[in-house]
Amino acid sequence: MTGADRPILELDEVSAAYGPYRALFGVSFSVARGAVVALLGPNGAGKSTVARVASGLVPASSGSVRVDGRDVAGEPAWRIARFGLAHVPEGRGVFDSLSVEENLVLSFQRRGGRGQISASLAQAYERFPLLKERRQDRAGTLSGGQQRLLSLAKVLVVPPKVLIVDELSLGLAPGVVDDVYAGLADVRRKGTALVVVEQQVDRALALASSAVVLERGTVAYYGPPSGARAAVEEVVDRRARGRAQAASS
Ligand SMILES: Nc1ncnc2c1ncn2[C@@H]1O[C@H](COP(=O)(O)OP(=O)(O)OP(=O)(O)O)[C@@H](O)[C@H]1O
Ligand SMILES: [Mg+2]
Repeated sequence: MTGADRPILELDEVSAAYGPYRALFGVSFSVARGAVVALLGPNGAGKSTVARVASGLVPASSGSVRVDGRDVAGEPAWRIARFGLAHVPEGRGVFDSLSVEENLVLSFQRRGGRGQISASLAQAYERFPLLKERRQDRAGTLSGGQQRLLSLAKVLVVPPKVLIVDELSLGLAPGVVDDVYAGLADVRRKGTALVVVEQQVDRALALASSAVVLERGTVAYYGPPSGARAAVEEVVDRRARGRAQAASS
């Protein structure tokens, strides 16, 4: 396979565990260059675990993860980031005791080198003026939604080859969600592939070129976005029936 048609991210039969608790069982899917994959499923299905395994925060217990054709088993997260993968994790993902600007500078240094920092800051402030207003404030004093914006700004400015965003819209006001999605569409146009983990299924599917639906750590659906909503509903129904059965027995 040549570089141009090689997927940017490939998971092949990936399993993972937290201590004795097994969270993923043979998960396989791939993300083509510049494509958008929606990663869906109910709470606890394993979406964030997939994101963590891909970015090196949780090791795979078996199977393989390739970033731009390179097997990243055993690589630390910072090296995987250098290979071109960025991950905006669930939650806030900022350094509370550093200022907004220090958070941005740290991330730009790590990912882009020192030369670009002032240009990168200018770009981040242009896209998210609120961060400019608050640039001297400690990140820990921002609201939850503002912290989500900061964690996105940290990765958007130096576009990665593939960006995994985990529940980016959680806690954001609708207008801000629109800004965030505009930011995602923008990096996509610049060639970044996306893996979008999202509770707002329709928003993720509107952007996606394919979808993966997880059910208790396995892939229940992998295909075009058009079939994903029904697959999510089936998974949710099965779960509700399983719970009703457990309660009545
Ligand atoms: N740090 C952890 N230690 C132990 N178990 C964990 C840990 N993180 C997740 N799990 C378990 O692994 C399973 C998958 O969790 P994961 O966070 O990947 O789900 P998710 O699909 O992202 O859910 P949500 O939609 O609620 O974010 C769950 O059963 C969860 O309890
Ligand atoms: Mg999650």
